[in-house]
Amino acid sequence: MSFSAPPDLPSLFTALLYAVHGVKMRLSQSWPAPAAGRIAATSTTSSAESGLVPLVFEPLPLGSIQPTGWFKDQMQLMADGLAGHEHDFYNYVAHSSWLGRDMEYSDLNEGLPYWFNGMVYLAYGLNDERLKDQVHSAAGYILDHQWDDGWIGPENKTARNFWGRMPLFLGMTGLAEANATWEAKIVPALHKFNDLMNTMLNDNYTGYWYQKGDVLNDNDTDWGRIWHQDMLITLQWLYEHHRGDQGQMLLENMKMLHDCGLNWEDWYNQQAYFGQGIDKDLNTINSNLTDDNYAYEHGVNVAQAQPALGDNYYADRAERVAFNAIPAMATPDWWGHQYMEQPNQPEAANLSSSPFYNTNSWGATFGLEPNYPCCTVNHPQGFPKFLANSYVKVGANGLAHALLSPGSASATLRGNKVTVKCDTAYPFLDTLTYTIDAEAPFDFYVRLPGWATIDASIKVNSEEVSPILDSETGMQKISLDKGSSTVAYYLPSTVRTESRENNTVSVYKGSVLYALEVTNHNTSTPPKPYDNPGFGDEYFNKCYYPPQSRDWSYHNTSRWNYAIDPETLQYHSPDSSSTSLANPLFGAGGPPGYVTAKACEIEWAMAFNGSVPGYPPNGEKRKCVGKVEKVKLVPYASARTHIAELPVLDLGG
Ligand SMILES: *[C@@H]1O[C@H](CO)[C@@H](O)[C@H](O)[C@H]1NC(C)=O
Ligand SMILES: *[C@@H]1O[C@H](CO)[C@@H](O)[C@H](O)[C@H]1NC(C)=O
Ligand SMILES: *[C@@H]1O[C@H](CO)[C@@H](O)[C@H](O)[C@H]1NC(C)=O
Ligand SMILES: *[C@@H]1O[C@H](CO)[C@@H](O)[C@H](O)[C@H]1NC(C)=O
Ligand SMILES: *[C@@H]1O[C@H](CO)[C@@H](O)[C@H](O)[C@H]1NC(C)=O
Ligand SMILES: *[C@@H]1O[C@H](CO)[C@@H](O)[C@H](O)[C@H]1NC(C)=O
Ligand SMILES: *[C@@H]1O[C@H](CO)[C@@H](O)[C@H](O)[C@H]1NC(C)=O
Ligand SMILES: *[C@@H]1O[C@H](CO)[C@@H](O)[C@H](O)[C@H]1NC(C)=O
Ligand SMILES: *[C@@H]1O[C@H](CO)[C@@H](O)[C@H](O)[C@H]1NC(C)=O
Ligand SMILES: *[C@@H]1O[C@H](CO)[C@@H](O)[C@H](O)[C@H]1NC(C)=O
Repeated sequence: MSFSAPPDLPSLFTALLYAVHGVKMRLSQSWPAPAAGRIAATSTTSSAESGLVPLVFEPLPLGSIQPTGWFKDQMQLMADGLAGHEHDFYNYVAHSSWLGRDMEYSDLNEGLPYWFNGMVYLAYGLNDERLKDQVHSAAGYILDHQWDDGWIGPENKTARNFWGRMPLFLGMTGLAEANATWEAKIVPALHKFNDLMNTMLNDNYTGYWYQKGDVLNDNDTDWGRIWHQDMLITLQWLYEHHRGDQGQMLLENMKMLHDCGLNWEDWYNQQAYFGQGIDKDLNTINSNLTDDNYAYEHGVNVAQAQPALGDNYYADRAERVAFNAIPAMATPDWWGHQYMEQPNQPEAANLSSSPFYNTNSWGATFGLEPNYPCCTVNHPQGFPKFLANSYVKVGANGLAHALLSPGSASATLRGNKVTVKCDTAYPFLDTLTYTIDAEAPFDFYVRLPGWATIDASIKVNSEEVSPILDSETGMQKISLDKGSSTVAYYLPSTVRTESRENNTVSVYKGSVLYALEVTNHNTSTPPKPYDNPGFGDEYFNKCYYPPQSRDWSYHNTSRWNYAIDPETLQYHSPDSSSTSLANPLFGAGGPPGYVTAKACEIEWAMAFNGSVPGYPPNGEKRKCVGKVEKVKLVPYASARTHIAELPVLDLGG
């Protein structure tokens, strides 16, 4: 397998495909007939036979990577918080139709599969026995109840929709990688299912497309068609690791799922989604939200369709999401999560008018199910998947730290046992220190983010080295001897801004987004059911919920309507360079380091009946209404109330 991307790498927007998994699965853009076996650009045998474009980097089996430092602390909070207790009490998991009960929030029967997909990765990422018991018990029940004809899940013949199986199988493949006992049960069950899927797809795409007499409708089956790439990940995994005698059938199923799926390649082009110009703000493009296009515009689908092609740009984006957007949407103790997050969010409370499409007035608060329950079951996926993809194999003799974060990995490269432990407070501090042991020489790689400065440096056993940089992937290659080595990766960054609409900027340092800190006080209530957001107890009287599960609102206790002078941005590093950070980390004052700027209040009004900030005034109208003062910008995810798209003003910096 070649290290850099194969030469036929299709252009970014036509190639958008196939990998929630985070790593490098690609299918050639024009699908080859399985039998014709078009030779892909590089040389692995399986790709030559199948026409599947090989992985740029190969993921390590689940369980090979463990978090350390602050990342471990935060994943442990997830385990001890809402994510790790849904199996005990949350209706759509504990009483799911998948486990012999009847609770579902929609005909899609996706609640338990979503939960399972995140939880397998959390349980094995942390090696947490209590969570492993939860996923084993769910997997055991589901596999023991596989139908005689091969179907997996609670649905009878007329109600079958492939969709729910897609996240479920992502969890099952992870479990099979992590535990040989489960591999022995899961692989035959998936083969039996694959057989049935072949029959169904050949029968005019039953289960994938509405058929006369089905209980399903097109809206239900479209979920499978827009997310077919998730099923392809599982089928390609089976093809590469457990093909059995199903090689051709697996390829045929992949082809049929793709052919009848909703087509991301068609959508991400100049005529469709970005028809009005790639750089346009989402507020202003004609987003063409028709029933036909719903699946392409629903945020979860778009996020989960992110490709990862070995392109450094996507790794930078993955780090940004992990260090900013994901933790910003949970309470610091991970017992509450949010449905709608706004970059400019001076408060997170019940809205008197909602600017959001199909979201109730509580969607901006934090809690058990502030809006639709899909995010209660799906919210634990991000960190565990980020972890599972943080180290990857490069060719036969390389191991790379791709998504930088504190964690350790073990891998076997051509029989050579290698362990790597990274001690760091990255992305909040600049140094990553690796302790590495190997039985034989191998190539170690560390990724150079797109924002890195020329001062970045690497020392191996205290000697500065000049690594070979692959500019496409950002990977820097360091050849290491056998035995023990230490690698010190110094990765300094400067404060930089990115332009946003209406003459505003977002402020970054490295992978961290800094936002104006708006102080707040919080209020809370017992959890409210999403479809009945009154304060009646009747729903929750029916089931137990732990006292830690509460619904939280955050109200500003300081002004938020500031403009800043970007010329005056200044980073203040922490006194300590210790890699042990606060826990919980993502609360007020948690992460080390902050930024200051000269700023002044401007006349910037709330909109939607006082619910959310309106457009900031522009041009002549943007002027100081108060004195020039120094304001503090803090890591975005540490501030539940924040302004991250800041109007710009010249204050004589
Ligand atoms: C099949 O399941 C659907 C949805 O749960 C239900 O409406 C239908 O009555 C069931 N049909 C049979 C034959 O059990
Ligand atoms: C693998 O799964 C089996 C069966 O659930 C369990 O007994 C065992 O502890 C698991 N192994 C690991 C390493 O988690
Ligand atoms: C195949 O399914 C489509 C979509 O539901 C339907 O329009 C078409 O009539 C079906 N064809 C046959 C032969 O059943
Ligand atoms: C599918 O969804 C659209 C838009 O929400 C709705 O108008 C339509 O009635 C739905 N179709 C069915 C068969 O439920
Ligand atoms: C909107 O989407 C529909 C369906 O995909 C497409 O036919 C139409 O051309 C699009 N219109 C615009 C203005 O992009
Ligand atoms: C929450 O907001 C909605 C809509 O703005 C309103 O009808 C409701 O009374 C509010 N609830 C509370 C408890 O403030
Ligand atoms: C910029 O602000 C103006 C009002 O001042 C508003 O009409 C316009 O839509 C805004 N543009 C964007 C992209 O937000
Ligand atoms: C609510 O505010 C109190 C006091 O500042 C704080 O200790 C607590 O952590 C906050 N709770 C949440 C869930 O943010
Ligand atoms: C909080 O924001 C509101 C809305 O802009 C503002 O009226 C109020 O003064 C702010 N609260 C404080 C304490 O500054
Ligand atoms: C503000 O509230 C009023 C009364 O509920 C409503 O008629 C109006 O549409 C709301 N305005 C906006 C911008 O949502």
